[in-house]
Amino acid sequence: MTDETPKALRGMAELAVSGIHHWTERTFSFRCARPASFRFRSGEFVMIGLLVDGKPLLRAYSIASPAWEDHLEFYSIKVEDGPLTSRLQHLTDGDTILMRPKPVGTLVLDALLPGKRLFLFSTGTGIAPFVSLIRDPETYEKFDEVVITQTCRDVAELDYGKAIVAEIRGDEMLSEIVGDKLTHIATTTREESPEMGRMTDWIRNGRLAAAVGPLDAATDRVMICGSMAMLQEHKALCEAAGMVEGANSEPGGFVIEKAFVD
Ligand code: A2P
Repeated sequence: MTDETPKALRGMAELAVSGIHHWTERTFSFRCARPASFRFRSGEFVMIGLLVDGKPLLRAYSIASPAWEDHLEFYSIKVEDGPLTSRLQHLTDGDTILMRPKPVGTLVLDALLPGKRLFLFSTGTGIAPFVSLIRDPETYEKFDEVVITQTCRDVAELDYGKAIVAEIRGDEMLSEIVGDKLTHIATTTREESPEMGRMTDWIRNGRLAAAVGPLDAATDRVMICGSMAMLQEHKALCEAAGMVEGANSEPGGFVIEKAFVD
């Protein structure tokens, strides 16, 4: 960007796209070059988008790659008439996207009080900030156990999360750091699969406790990312368990953030 850059684009980074992977008809992931000066904390989001009719069209996207990685990864839904995702889904290698390089967000380790076990509850593309955190060694320095859950309507929608967990287990360095600290629970609600049901129901009916032990507000910390309805239900369950919501300015027992929807 130069002095000639239109005002609307000033301060914006242009990133080359690569590694586009269409996971399902409704979801895809892609990578971008990471500007050398760009720093963020695992779990944060940025505004990314495209130039449409000469104006930047930007939406909030969680960065799915960890803070140490030299590229940036994003995981997106495709909405047929969504202003941005209807265009983003047609990205091909070598295209560029715009990014406002100001990372923000509450799904960061700094917003949680110290604890022993970290729960990362997600639905759909809400898994994006958590696949950043589960690939960050700092998460395992701070917690003895990490439980990541993703609930989707259909089995194929779980593939991205499964692939990332498999990548961690296959990575020489990360697998050593992670060891047996990471538990991945992937469930569906509409298509038949070995593990079915919403996590909110699993908490209420004792199935989650049976799988990993009961929630304990004294030592468990929780991050939640999904639809508004999902956030509200999980938040109420955290509060009922005696947890207090945290923020960057005041760490707490749990933090929430709405997943991107176009
Ligand atoms: P369900 O199929 O029972 O609605 P969506 O695509 O609508 O955002 O849903 C993604 C996943 O989140 C689905 O499996 C859906 O289950 C689940 N879900 C929707 N609402 C809630 C909620 N309030 N609490 C927990 N999970 C939810």
